[in-house]
Formats: sequence, structure tokens, C-alpha cells
Amino acid sequence: MMINCTINGRAYQFNIDPRMSLMELLRQQGLNSVKQGCSVGECGACTVLIDDIATDTCIYLALWADGKSIRTAEGEVKGRHLSAVQQAYVDTGAVQCGFCTPGFVMTSTSMVERFRGQPLTEQEIRRGLAGNLCRCTGYTSIIKAVQKAQQLDEETPR
Ligand code: FES
Ligand code: FES
Repeated sequence: MMINCTINGRAYQFNIDPRMSLMELLRQQGLNSVKQGCSVGECGACTVLIDDIATDTCIYLALWADGKSIRTAEGEVKGRHLSAVQQAYVDTGAVQCGFCTPGFVMTSTSMVERFRGQPLTEQEIRRGLAGNLCRCTGYTSIIKAVQKAQQLDEETPR
């Protein structure tokens, strides 16, 4: 079946197998920031933004993406510049092996955009990131990354 969607601001049309997950489709397009972790909606490694909502793509059929706007971690890089969230993850040392990082970045991006001008508490950040698992960092640096991302985002001219 045919679907139309935008990925990182560009329009695409795909002829897909209706059983295919959005994770499979995105990875086939070379968007390897979309990681295949648990494949059952538990780890968040496959998170992208669909119409600006953080979504596990391993349990989201590609056909449901028809008419939607999809953002992946690749699209957050503008020219040579990381997004505020990506830069904050680097600055706070919140990246170790990196496998979970794109998913965390996309969930964090949705939080930063949704709560612009409203600094989140540690507890709110932990709750917001509850769907993303990290085996390396112990989460403390990731919490700091979201706090720093909110600051950097405030300083970013729009
Ligand atoms: S791979 Fe999708 S939630 Fe784990
Ligand atoms: S940095 Fe390795 S799983 Fe999170």
C-alpha cells in the first residue's frame, strides 16, 4: 500500500508492506539513529517524534504514518550545529555507548518543546523519560542534560 509522509521536513511516498513497523521503514531509509532494541515498546531506543509526540516506532505500523510528520535525531542537526538537546547531552557527558541516546534525545526534545519557559523538576524529567532505558549512564547525567537543554533552548534565538 502507498503512504505519504514527511521525514525531517522532506516529503516521501512509500509503497509498503502493511505489516511493516515504522522502525523498519525508517532504518531501511538509512535513518540508523532509530535503534532496534527490544522491539516490544519497552526500551525507547526506537523513539522518534510523530507530529511532535515521542513514539516507539517498533510498535507503530508504518501505514499509520500516512499523512504524518516524522522527526528523527538525524534531522535535529542543522548544518554543522547540534540541536540544543543534542548539545546538552554532549556537554553533560550523558552519552556513553550511545545506543540509547537518539531515543533519549527525541523524547527530551518533545519535553523541551512542550515545556518551553517552564523549567522541569528532576522528578518531572524522570517521569517524562520513564519510557527510555539506558544501561550505561545511571541516568544522573541524562537528567542534567535535559535541564541544560531547557537552558540552551531558552537562549536560542527564534
Ligand atoms: S525497540 Fe522500540 S521500544 Fe525498544
Ligand atoms: S549510553 Fe549506553 S545504553 Fe545508554
